[in-house]
Amino acid sequence: MSPHFQAHVEPVKGLKWHVLKLLWPEFLPFKQRIALAIGCLLLAKLASVSLPFWLKHIIDDLNGQLNDSSLQLVIAPLALVAAYGFFRFINVLFNELRDMLFGRVTERAMRHIGVNTFKHLHDLDLAYHLNRRTGGLSRDIERGISGIEFLMRFMVFNIVPTIFEVLLVVILLMINYGWMYSFITLTAVAFYIVFSIITTEWRTKYMREVNAADSKSNTHAIDSLLNYETVKYFSNENFEAKRYDSELGEWEKAKRKNRLTLFTLNGGQALIIALAMTATLALAANDVAAGIITIGDFVLINGFLMQLFIPLNFFGFVYREIKGSLANIEAMFELLDKKPAIEDREHAHTLDTPPERIEFKQLHFQYQPDRPILKGISFTISKGQKVAIVGESGSGKSTLVKLLFRFYDVNKGSISINGHDIRDLSQHSLRSAIGIVPQDTVLFNTTIYANIAYGRPDASEAEVNQAIDMAHLRHFIDDLPYGDQTMVGERGLKLSGGEKQRVAIARTILKRPPLLVFDEATSSLDSQSEQAILTTIKEVAKNHTSLVIAHRLSTIVDADNIIVLDKGLIIEQGNHQQLLQRRGVYANLWEIQQKQKVSDDV
Ligand SMILES: Nc1ncnc2c1ncn2[C@@H]1O[C@H](COP(=O)(O)OP(=O)(O)OP(=O)(O)O)[C@@H](O)[C@H]1O
Ligand SMILES: [Mg+2]
Repeated sequence: MSPHFQAHVEPVKGLKWHVLKLLWPEFLPFKQRIALAIGCLLLAKLASVSLPFWLKHIIDDLNGQLNDSSLQLVIAPLALVAAYGFFRFINVLFNELRDMLFGRVTERAMRHIGVNTFKHLHDLDLAYHLNRRTGGLSRDIERGISGIEFLMRFMVFNIVPTIFEVLLVVILLMINYGWMYSFITLTAVAFYIVFSIITTEWRTKYMREVNAADSKSNTHAIDSLLNYETVKYFSNENFEAKRYDSELGEWEKAKRKNRLTLFTLNGGQALIIALAMTATLALAANDVAAGIITIGDFVLINGFLMQLFIPLNFFGFVYREIKGSLANIEAMFELLDKKPAIEDREHAHTLDTPPERIEFKQLHFQYQPDRPILKGISFTISKGQKVAIVGESGSGKSTLVKLLFRFYDVNKGSISINGHDIRDLSQHSLRSAIGIVPQDTVLFNTTIYANIAYGRPDASEAEVNQAIDMAHLRHFIDDLPYGDQTMVGERGLKLSGGEKQRVAIARTILKRPPLLVFDEATSSLDSQSEQAILTTIKEVAKNHTSLVIAHRLSTIVDADNIIVLDKGLIIEQGNHQQLLQRRGVYANLWEIQQKQKVSDDV
């Protein structure tokens, strides 16, 4: 929805001018350009303020000629008309030059801040991203950046020139026609501004209602479309449409109230202008009649006032938007100030040798207080080993992997690689050493090829193709009309679960890290494909260290150590034979799965 303009109407207290100070460094490198733009702005304004003067002289000359019919004098007004035309052109020309000069400055600053914010968001921790809706986040950035554009445009193109013009006009009126004129003008402008600010503040509440109604219906509409399949499964199209309609109804109601407040604002502004114009022109008419000033002066005064009030027409809007822009920019800077929970230590160690020994020591972890997930886990993985983790759903297997990858920091205990606590390692070097095939693979909305090449962006085409072969994707890709250039759809939803897993495996094969982690990497595959992939994984993992999480125990019988996890504790560990002899949980599970297999085969 919302083809209408989305004005900023969050509750904001006061104008946050200090934001300008934050922004200033972004503009500093463009000092000369800005100075030039301001020069153009002043010239354009001077030209526009001179226009009523030319008009006055033209009229006075013409008026003189009406009384004195000698023809030679016609040249004089023609020259004045030419000058009038010339300065009108100069006004536009310098305005355009100012736009050209300043546009580049604003865009450069927007680009710079945009990319910094983007980088910063990638630096923030996973917990932050899981807690925040990405939609809201991207809106914050978008708002902040368009806030900069708006602020700059209206500061440079509206506020500053208008202030300059008001001052100039008031001074010129004072010098040429006496203090009464400038007094009325100044008072009118002051009233106008105060009235606009007060009315705009009052209106904000109603505008907020409109926006709230708008985002509510919007959020639901998008959520409903994202859940397209679910809506169909339950035949709830009508339910969805009804809900959407009632939300749009609220939006409509809010819009109506909002329109009334806009009427008040515009009406009041028009009244102030009309009163000021009437008073000034009455004064001028009086002076013309008294012979103090000419008809040309009358036109000049009228011209000044008209010129002055046109930019003020937008004042309510500009005031609200600038206020909003300042708040948005501040919010963006706050985002930039937010410290990631996971940060490299100062002088963090770079893991420059392949992991030889990975040690989990008395590991305790919880995502939320009062709900411990891991309660004292200790085990080691030595170079070249294959260690497997099995256990019930929710026992904390994937969590262990996330901790190893340092998406979160442990609460107690430690994880160390080659004797270094991973909290002392640089995140980049730690993560470069580990390749993960995650439990739920999410793909970028691009081609299969690009998704695989993402594992190592500088890999050659031959290497990517090799990875495709090793992950047993060749057959599938050759069957596709567009081959490896097939788009995978949003989050990779156009691929089957098994295909996605194989893309993820190919991607990790391409990365070729010394430590491999497979989190249920074959869970979505049929037994036959699974066997094929397992062979590949074995091949790839041969000279590697690997950590394998599996539900199907047949895939890990060859592991050097199998860890059985239950409710965040290790209840058994050993190799397959040892665990079978223990006749514990593992042996039990193995028996069940064997029976299952036999009945499947039958
Ligand atoms: N980001 C999170 N915030 C809060 N709780 C979480 C979060 N991620 C996981 N959990 C909880 O932690 C517990 C362990 O989750 P984990 O994903 O490690 O289980 P798992 O052993 O991998 O299970 P599965 O076999 O189903 O994949 C679960 O109960 C889950 O609800
Ligand atoms: Mg898991």
